[in-house]
Amino acid sequence: MPSDACILGIETSCDETAAAVVCSGKRVLSNVVSSQIAVHQPYGGVVPELASREHLRAIVPVVRQALAEAGQSYESVHAFAVTQGPGLAGALLVGISYAKALTFALGKPLITVNHLEGHIHAVLLEERQKGNFQVEFPLLALVVSGGHTHLFLAEQRGESWVYRNIGRTRDDAAGEAYDKVAKLLALGYPGGPIIDFLARHGDPHAVRFAPAQIKHGNRGVPRDKQTQHDFSYSGIKTAVLRYVELEGMRESIAARQKALAGVGKPRPEQVLELCDKKTLDLVGSFQRTMVNDLVSKTLEAARAHESRTLFVTGGVAANSELRQRFESDAAREGLNVYFPSRKLSTDNAAMIAAAAYPKYLAEDFASPEFSAEASLVLR
Ligand code: KG4
Ligand code: ZN
Repeated sequence: MPSDACILGIETSCDETAAAVVCSGKRVLSNVVSSQIAVHQPYGGVVPELASREHLRAIVPVVRQALAEAGQSYESVHAFAVTQGPGLAGALLVGISYAKALTFALGKPLITVNHLEGHIHAVLLEERQKGNFQVEFPLLALVVSGGHTHLFLAEQRGESWVYRNIGRTRDDAAGEAYDKVAKLLALGYPGGPIIDFLARHGDPHAVRFAPAQIKHGNRGVPRDKQTQHDFSYSGIKTAVLRYVELEGMRESIAARQKALAGVGKPRPEQVLELCDKKTLDLVGSFQRTMVNDLVSKTLEAARAHESRTLFVTGGVAANSELRQRFESDAAREGLNVYFPSRKLSTDNAAMIAAAAYPKYLAEDFASPEFSAEASLVLR
């Protein structure tokens, strides 16, 4: 297996159609992401049926563009990689069917990648690019996105990586809470970036939210699904809703909704102009509570497992306050913390091609029968 192998990665697990060519697990020759935000924006969330259709429309041109920008061809790349799960089954199937057809026709190897492993490899890819990167184990990774809030202990065994899930959300993912609160307040979709922007203009101490409680311990959770360091974000969404009702904010929300209807993708400044102080304070307080909870629970897990290195990755890792807080609080504990660049925090295919590279070296190729797994577990 050539160690400078170039892999074309394909990612279609949610609402981005993405393809990228990455060589040796670190040299990114191209990284194309076609976003469906405008399609889902009117619904305030991803509509699975529409996502599959958009992937079908975009997959061929996106892959062609990734090859062209990389100066590569279908024949010249050494292998193909595709996200197998977790994600929306119909969306995953578009990337998988296309990757299977391509590799069958070309007689090239196909590698399946777990989307969450992709997010972890986004960090490894960029740290390898900087050179001199030696992970100090134990390595703890927080994967925090629209679909996941998971803590993994990651270990390298030879070329391969193995993972142990030690924490997860019991209900909503952190990104889902951002998206649902943004929808409730008529701030647009996706909620994370706009709340990140607006929160800087509000008082983070104005509204007090009770810290998220994990009420039931592991009671009722099957033994193989039990983890020690869990999160929960459905309560804060309900608390925001209750605050909106109690403070009579419905009218101002409806007015904002009307003003933004028909504006395809509003600029953050446009949304800011439509927010009163009460809304900005609520948004600032929501973000502060989310960040406090994510940072404190993750650092607690890092202490419990005596971690030396912390990766924070996934769409929510793009959050500016979360980055600052992790940097300052982790440093205080002597923990090295790493994030992907913002471009590689949210969904992309460079992370899929990078995660496939160790599997390529280990000749860990997909069998022709594999299919999409909406709830694929990372081990
Ligand atoms: O990783 P990703 O692109 O897709 C999933 O695998 O889910 O993450 C998307 C999620 C969305 O919920 C979005 O609102 C959130 O990441 N997000 C953010 C920020 N940018 C994206 N959340 C908080 N702050 C941000 N700056
Ligand atoms: Zn993701």
